[in-house]
Amino acid sequence: MATSPLFLLPLLLLCLIPFSNSHSHKLKFTTSELTSSSSSSTSPTTYFEVTRPIPVPRTQPCSLLLLQHDFAYTYSQPPATSSYTPPSCLTRTPSLIVLEWNATCKGRQFDRIFGVWLGEVELLRSCTAEPRATGIAWTVQKDVTRYSSLFSQSSTFAVYLGNIVDSTYTGVYHVNVSVYFYFESNKQNQGKGQGHVPAFDSPADLILPISRSLPLNDGLWFLIQNSTDIQSKEVTIPKNTYRAVVEVYLSYHADDEFWYTNPPNDYISKNNLTGLPGNGAFREVILTIDANVVGAVWPFTVIYTGGVNPLLWRPITGIGSFNLPSYDIEITPFLGNLLDGKPRTYGFGVTNGLDVWFVDANLHLWLDQKSNMTTGNLINYDAPDFVPNTVSIFRDLDGTFTTNADRHISASGWVESSYGNITSHFSQDLHFLNFMEFNDNGNTQQVKQTIDATYNTYAETPHTVVYTEQLQQNFPLFLYTGVADVVGDNYSLVSNVSLGFNEKWINGGKPGFGFGSGSLTNLQNAQGEMKVQDNLVTSGIGSTQQVYKYDGTDGCYFRQVSSSNYTILSDKSKDSSTAGESCET
Ligand SMILES: *[C@@H]1O[C@H](CO)[C@@H](O)[C@H](O)[C@H]1NC(C)=O
Ligand SMILES: *[C@@H]1O[C@H](CO)[C@@H](O)[C@H](O)[C@H]1NC(C)=O
Ligand SMILES: *[C@@H]1O[C@H](CO)[C@@H](O)[C@H](O)[C@H]1NC(C)=O
Ligand SMILES: *[C@@H]1O[C@H](CO)[C@@H](O)[C@H](O)[C@H]1NC(C)=O
Ligand SMILES: *[C@@H]1O[C@H](CO)[C@@H](O)[C@H](O)[C@H]1NC(C)=O
Ligand SMILES: *[C@@H]1O[C@H](CO)[C@@H](O)[C@H](O)[C@H]1NC(C)=O
Ligand SMILES: *[C@@H]1O[C@H](CO)[C@@H](O)[C@H](O)[C@H]1NC(C)=O
Ligand SMILES: *[C@@H]1O[C@H](CO)[C@@H](O)[C@H](O)[C@H]1NC(C)=O
Ligand SMILES: *[C@@H]1O[C@H](CO)[C@@H](O)[C@H](O)[C@H]1NC(C)=O
Repeated sequence: MATSPLFLLPLLLLCLIPFSNSHSHKLKFTTSELTSSSSSSTSPTTYFEVTRPIPVPRTQPCSLLLLQHDFAYTYSQPPATSSYTPPSCLTRTPSLIVLEWNATCKGRQFDRIFGVWLGEVELLRSCTAEPRATGIAWTVQKDVTRYSSLFSQSSTFAVYLGNIVDSTYTGVYHVNVSVYFYFESNKQNQGKGQGHVPAFDSPADLILPISRSLPLNDGLWFLIQNSTDIQSKEVTIPKNTYRAVVEVYLSYHADDEFWYTNPPNDYISKNNLTGLPGNGAFREVILTIDANVVGAVWPFTVIYTGGVNPLLWRPITGIGSFNLPSYDIEITPFLGNLLDGKPRTYGFGVTNGLDVWFVDANLHLWLDQKSNMTTGNLINYDAPDFVPNTVSIFRDLDGTFTTNADRHISASGWVESSYGNITSHFSQDLHFLNFMEFNDNGNTQQVKQTIDATYNTYAETPHTVVYTEQLQQNFPLFLYTGVADVVGDNYSLVSNVSLGFNEKWINGGKPGFGFGSGSLTNLQNAQGEMKVQDNLVTSGIGSTQQVYKYDGTDGCYFRQVSSSNYTILSDKSKDSSTAGESCET
């Protein structure tokens, strides 16, 4: 698992393995962990991800501590578990459920990925913050209302956080995970469809895991190690299902932690570079049912807390790093083929993938309360093959690589239930563009990438539109890294990052947003320099500026914040849960 000194030194997983120093290429682009000597303050620093605070009702929630655990040496061990029993307040249906992760850590430690599961269904994928000698604390809150059905039954709660503690890497993660149930008297009908129109936007009646089963060592996610590796599970769904959505969770590590910076293989072979991760810059996660591709995820580029330059992410962490996005694929059009009470094979693959991707999924199912059996049929299905196109122009270590790809997947099908004969349509239109440039004899690398995705869901009877949702995502990324002063494993690195997560949605249904429409623009710019010796940053500085704008039918949120060298320089925000109000200052 040792990687090249040439850029990406993934420190997230097997990152303690020293990297080899055996070839001449100079460019290094690394994730690192910071030496603890550079801090002078004495109180713990609070790290945070900029996000809209979850609007909660004024009512007092009912709360429950799910797990209290110290993650010391946990690598390749079983997840930490506790048994979950629904609290007595759950005789009513909550209008909002919030999961809260509180953690502290002190000392020196790498960024670690972790997953949180209830009944083997994943609730949260996240990355730890990297500690300082004086200690850090952070909190992640996530709206988990869409998982309501899980909270109403007894099951096993599990957290896997693979950590290594030794004489050098001393950080133990102390963690409490809690859940808060909120009840709103004016939302009595929440959760179940009323009358003729099924509640397409309410939480699913049943959620089945497409993950590895307990007991096991390591996370419940599947490990996908190369481009031909398909990991799968057989799942049988109830015969009275009328809607089904697969929610995919994923994270990428080691050779693919920075997949969007990986050059094509011919660049690597022509320059005799060994150990440098390649396969070019395009990746996608595919979802298959019985070997047919039914959906694809072109993932947002989360940079973990040790990524590029760890000083950039203190205390403002990278977009998505504390709460990695999951991706919904509507499979309702295929239900007609799945309702016979027999198992189907749900599989995941990573196009061009290198070791290693962590992928699992949750199958959200809506059941017909008035019938034991629904029927249906697929009307049409289109998932044409495509090949990403790359234009490579290089001489020795310098050159440019332009990669683009487009994909369309769509399906329509009808399902007859006690709600009527509903025809649903789902489509994905995906666009990818990556421009990569090496200069200065491979010492600088620049990546400019854009991913655009449109997801459309539309359900109708001959007379009515039952449900419609459109989600548009736009993920711009700019990354510049320049290496200098290379002596052995010592070097200095200058880096600039610009990372955006933009979404627009109409007619809601997106969990947490309800029916309505809205938009999110979230942009981070960051600049840093650091000196690195082995895996350790010995000195340096990082500055980050972020603007977050949420505008929806349920209110708005604006925050503009900047930091440098652990200190917040400016922080303006406005929060409103009043429809139509503006939060821009
Ligand atoms: C978790 O941390 C947050 C922020 O510091 C705090 O408001 C909350 O009370 C903490 N929760 C628990 C259960 O300690
Ligand atoms: C976890 O909860 C315990 C008991 O309330 C508290 O002493 C501890 O400080 C909490 N730890 C974190 C990380 O919130
Ligand atoms: C891909 O990964 C799978 C699972 O680890 C392994 O069995 C297979 O040999 C690998 N294939 C290649 C070409 O490396
Ligand atoms: C790569 O190795 C081959 C065979 O040893 C050699 O002929 C070629 O010059 C090398 N190329 C570079 C760029 O070092
Ligand atoms: C479902 O099946 C059960 C057992 O076969 C039967 O008792 C029940 O009445 C059926 N319910 C409906 C809504 O058909
Ligand atoms: C449901 O509607 C579709 C499309 O209009 C039609 O082809 C199908 O036969 C209908 N199914 C039933 C059971 O009526
Ligand atoms: C790397 O830097 C450290 C101190 O900054 C120094 O002690 C060491 O000799 C350097 N290594 C090399 C190979 O120059
Ligand atoms: C990197 O950021 C610095 C500081 O903002 C700026 O001066 C420099 O031009 C940037 N370089 C690139 C390649 O974006
Ligand atoms: C960063 O802040 C520390 C104190 O927290 C200070 O000692 C150091 O000089 C600062 N570094 C820079 C480059 O400003």
